[in-house]
Order: sequence, then C-alpha cells, then structure tokens
Amino acid sequence: MARDLNRDRNRDKSVKNGGSSGNNILIKERDRTLATNFKALVVSKTEEDKYIREIKERSTDDLPEGDVLVKVNYSSLNYKDALSAIGSKGVTRNYPHTPGVDSSGVVEQSSSDNIQPGEEVIVHAYDLGVNTSGGFGQYIRVPVDWIVKLPNGLTQRDAMIYGTAGFTAAQCIYKMEHNGVSPGDGEVLVTGATGGVGSTAVAMLAKLGYEVVASTGKTDQSQFLKDIGAKEIISREDSADLSRPLLKGRWAGVVDTVGGDILATAIHSTKQHGTVTCCGNVGGHQLNTNVYPFILRGVDLLGVDSQNYPMQGRVAIWKKMANEWKIDNLELLCNEISLDGLNENIDLILQGKQKGRVLVNLQK
Ligand SMILES: NC(=O)c1ccc[n+]([C@@H]2O[C@H](COP(=O)([O-])OP(=O)(O)OC[C@H]3O[C@@H](n4cnc5c(N)ncnc54)[C@H](OP(=O)(O)O)[C@@H]3O)[C@@H](O)[C@H]2O)c1
Repeated sequence: MARDLNRDRNRDKSVKNGGSSGNNILIKERDRTLATNFKALVVSKTEEDKYIREIKERSTDDLPEGDVLVKVNYSSLNYKDALSAIGSKGVTRNYPHTPGVDSSGVVEQSSSDNIQPGEEVIVHAYDLGVNTSGGFGQYIRVPVDWIVKLPNGLTQRDAMIYGTAGFTAAQCIYKMEHNGVSPGDGEVLVTGATGGVGSTAVAMLAKLGYEVVASTGKTDQSQFLKDIGAKEIISREDSADLSRPLLKGRWAGVVDTVGGDILATAIHSTKQHGTVTCCGNVGGHQLNTNVYPFILRGVDLLGVDSQNYPMQGRVAIWKKMANEWKIDNLELLCNEISLDGLNENIDLILQGKQKGRVLVNLQK
C-alpha cells in the first residue's frame, strides 16, 4: 500500500505544518484518533502485471485528504469502474486502488461550512474511483466541491440506481432538448439500449413522451426494453450500415453510448436538423463519417462528458432527475448486489452482458 502510506505521510506533514486552517487541524487530528475500519473492494497489481480483486479491510486513515468524510450506503457499477478494476491505464494510474465512480451516503465529518455531518449526499465523477479511493468502499473522503446534496424526491438508493449512467443519459437528453429537440419531433434512437446509460435513457425519454427506438445486441431482452418504455427494438446488426454516405432520415434525436460504426450510421440516418449526442465507446472509438449529414441536413453532433461537468449544471440535472424527469419505476432497472457480488458483475459488464443498472448496497 505504498500510495496509501504516502498519503498518510502527507497528512502527517499537513498536521505538523498547521494545514490550511485551525479547523482543518482539528478535523485531521480527530480523524486520526477516530479512525474507522471498513470494507472495500481493493484492486492490486501483482508482480506478474496481473490485477486481482479482493474485499479487504481498510481504515479511514488510508483515505486521501479532503474536506468531507462520507459513509457510503450505495454505489453502482459503471463500465468505467470495470476498466479501473482490470488495470486500464486510461482510467487508473496507481494500484492498489478502490474503484467506484458513484456513491450516495451520509456525511460523517466535515471541515466545510457548506456541508454538515448527517446530511445525505451524492458524490460522483470528478476523480472519485479514478485515482481517488472510490465508492466500492464503505467510506470516502473528498473535496467539498465534489458534493451534490441529495435532492428532494430521491432516496440514496434511487440516486444510485441512476448513478453516473443515469446522470449521463439525463445530460444527453438535456443537451438534445437545449438544441431544439422535443417529444413531438419524431423517433429518438438509443444505442446500447440494455446497458446502464442506454436503459436509463430509454426510460427517461419514454417518461418525457418521446417515441423511443432501442438498438440492442440482446434482442432476447426486447420485453425488458418494452417494459421500460421502448416502442420498437432494432438489432445491433441492423444498426450498422455504412453502405452509403447518407441513409433515409429517421431520427429526430439520438443518444449513442456505443460509438464506432453504430454512431456513424445513426448520424447518417438522422433527419433534417436532428441532434445526435455521443457519450460512449463500447463499440469503438473511431468515427467513420462524412460531411453530408452536417451540410445537407444540418445535423448536430454533441459530445457529452459527465466527469467534469460544472457543479451548477450538475445540481440542475439531478433536480430534474428527482422531479419531472424521474423514471416511474426505477426498480425495473435495478439489480442489487453487495460488495461480494462485484467481482462477477465486473466480468459481465466487460463482456457487454449487463442489463440495466447494478446497484451496490455497501451496508449489506
Ligand atoms: N461521457 C461520459 O461522461 C460517460 C459517462 C458514463 C458512461 N460513458 C460511456 O458510455 C458507455 C456505456 O457505459 P455503461 O456504463 O452504460 O456500460 P454498459 O452498462 O456496459 O452498457 C453498454 C452497452 O453497450 C452495448 N454493447 C456492449 N458491447 C458492444 C459492442 N462491442 N458493440 C456495440 N454495442 C455494445 C450493450 O448493450 P446492448 O446489448 O443492448 O447493445 C451494453 O450493455 C461506455 O463507453 C462508457 O465509458 C461515458
């Protein structure tokens, strides 16, 4: 745990040097006296360059410095967490590491006047679970700037059924609507529809009154997709057609979670002045397109990044997800597991076999 030891050394140094304020010294000294042991998934790198995943006991003393200590009650599994759990250098640089870009829970200690112990919070994105110990542990310590207060209308559990996947789906819809798309405009395509971002996008768009067409590699899950609001299902094979530079214009809007040829095909089949949002790359990072959809149909291609989305917009989107955009039956999307179930589910999501959202109950 070389990295954790370094963190401890830095924390010691900060206490000796007086930290940034007297209040911080008190908090840090109290942390040290009241260290709590907790369970976490820890990914370690072996000497043979393999990555192993174990549930281990850790201490709050191992956590990085930060303004707020949160007891995590729920997290969720995203594709990015699985990449972090297999040593993907594009996600996590240093191991041992606890992944988990998502968390909801209760503030246990705070050195900020803006957040008090006992408040219910959501912490997701920024560096959480990337190179900062994440939500697959029962405690996290983070900067106050990463915290969203749990909005009225959502429980901690609801928030993590959505998680980063649901937030990203909402961001795509928000961008589409700001670009002029509305429910009366015609069909909206969602690709990778049974996945985390895909399934929450299908359900949210249906809730808002859109005609949703779901593209999936799991046509045996058609009933699931219809239950959450899709009106039509198309197969993954039928969603990739690069035979012509422009196809018949069908989509008023697109939420693409897949990238590659499926995104290119979606762009080529978007109708006049339609909007395509792009947030994922499970099907490839290349984009083989041409200028015609843009110069002949005025199609807009909008990128979506949830990780560093500014806090003001983040709070506004969570508020919508808690109110007028709230999915009626979130439980239909939810497969609940404990920390012990993560190992198996990480393998499933890497194989593209996950359906809906995997909710991780940290207190189970
Ligand atoms: N930009 C951002 O801020 C942001 C935020 C969250 C996620 N993402 C990205 O969005 C993507 C989806 O994330 P997620 O957490 O929803 O993952 P997920 O739950 O694994 O969903 C991905 C879905 O894509 C489909 N799929 C899998 N492999 C495929 C392939 N080779 N070709 C075509 N389709 C394939 C599958 O759905 P079907 O079987 O139904 O086709 C799969 O369930 C990932 O690339 C992730 O990194 C980006």
